[in-house]
Amino acid sequence: MHTIGVFDSGIGGLSVARAIEKARPGDRVIYVNDKAHVPYGDKSPEQLLGFVVPILQGLNDQGCEVIVIACNTVTTTLIAELRQRISVPLIGIEPMVKPAAAATRTGVIAVCATLATLKSKRYAWLKQTYAHEVTVLEPDCATWAYMIEHNQLNERRIGQQIDSLCAQGADQIVLGCTHYHWIEDVVKRFAARRAAILQPEQAIINRLQAMLEPQP
Ligand code: DGL
Repeated sequence: MHTIGVFDSGIGGLSVARAIEKARPGDRVIYVNDKAHVPYGDKSPEQLLGFVVPILQGLNDQGCEVIVIACNTVTTTLIAELRQRISVPLIGIEPMVKPAAAATRTGVIAVCATLATLKSKRYAWLKQTYAHEVTVLEPDCATWAYMIEHNQLNERRIGQQIDSLCAQGADQIVLGCTHYHWIEDVVKRFAARRAAILQPEQAIINRLQAMLEPQP
């Protein structure tokens, strides 16, 4: 049995924790969210660092062998710094720009993410490295995490945004915030087969497998 920590600002990471529990029923998953400070998407890197370090230290103290940072905002903004401060191995989650850019046939992808993620250097690097030959649409999702966190989804508004992305030719829609995993079916319904929806839960499970059960 392994002890795996999973962390996010709010309920986003819970979808990731559930997926890990389902895939690895023999392990213990400790899920922590930062209810006091959610949403993270409008916070500065300095604020985020102050929130996140004590939480990760707490998971370390509880015996986690690995911690999944189930938050694109924290990963893209701080992962390098966190790896220097926390001795437990960290698995980050970042927008799936690389697979989306590799899969597009129209040459247009969409990345739905928080403002902090879109402003981060890591995200700029992902786009520059993997998506410089494709058009990357970045819809305004500033209210999405709040809506999802408070169960106040404005489906009509989200529907219009997804429809507009597809109308602009996006055939890959990246869910670049774990909160949006909860509305994957809604996004899929509005995309109506015009676009594939990408989110990283399976990739995280594969990464955990490789880390916890390395092949000789
Ligand atoms: N779920 C987080 C992410 O993946 C953060 C959302 C927020 O707190 O703004 O980016």
